[in-house]
Amino acid sequence: MSQSRYVPALRFDWLTPVYDPVVRLTTRETTFKNALINQAEMQAGDSVLDIGCGSGTLANLLHEALPELDIHGIDGDSKVLGIARAKISPNGEGIHFVQAMSFLLPYLDESFDHVFSSLFFHHLTSEDKSNTLNEILRVLKPGGVFHVADWGDPDNFLMRLGSYMVMALDGTETTRDNFEGRLPELVLSAGFEDLKETAALNTVFGTIRILKSTKARG
Ligand SMILES: C[S@@+](CC[C@H](N)C(=O)[O-])C[C@H]1O[C@@H](n2cnc3c(N)ncnc32)[C@H](O)[C@@H]1O
Repeated sequence: MSQSRYVPALRFDWLTPVYDPVVRLTTRETTFKNALINQAEMQAGDSVLDIGCGSGTLANLLHEALPELDIHGIDGDSKVLGIARAKISPNGEGIHFVQAMSFLLPYLDESFDHVFSSLFFHHLTSEDKSNTLNEILRVLKPGGVFHVADWGDPDNFLMRLGSYMVMALDGTETTRDNFEGRLPELVLSAGFEDLKETAALNTVFGTIRILKSTKARG
């Protein structure tokens, strides 16, 4: 039996239109998304994938940081992709949004220099997390880099209280690995190398941990 489960941006489809203001007000969004971008050290012409791209904020920030990037964003939800397409930056012809599932990516092997994922892995069951990590490894070029920002083990008691709100909203089945601090070991067991936690930010809903890891050069 499949262990898949689909959790939309704010758990309920009818909350999707308010996703942007909620995330902006509660997660220190600009700070953590810019931290992801800054750690990537990208070059003009690099191809990048934002997996579980939601309403496209990170894709737009990537475009603003380096307009010569070839930017692809995938999400399983057509409604949130509608919001993303409506807010593509002026001259954002290098941004492509596609509806797809993270564990079946519609790209050839070794297509991307960087893969990003922001507030996404806590939407996946453990099995989907592993299948998605295998797909990310497949589509990254040798030496390509995987960047994650997501809920991790809470930094202190207050952060633990905040994390209970995410668990109540998105469900314990998909969030447990995150809040028990297992994302780094899942990334390593998929075969990534050189894993580092580069930052941790405390927010209303708990601690966001930023990870960076590499696909071996072969
Ligand atoms: C909390 S939102 C994060 C959106 C965006 N990355 C951000 O940082 O604002 C999680 C997104 O993952 C998408 N999603 C959930 N499961 C998915 C899957 N298996 N494949 C693709 N997208 C998925 C949801 O539709 C939602 O847009």
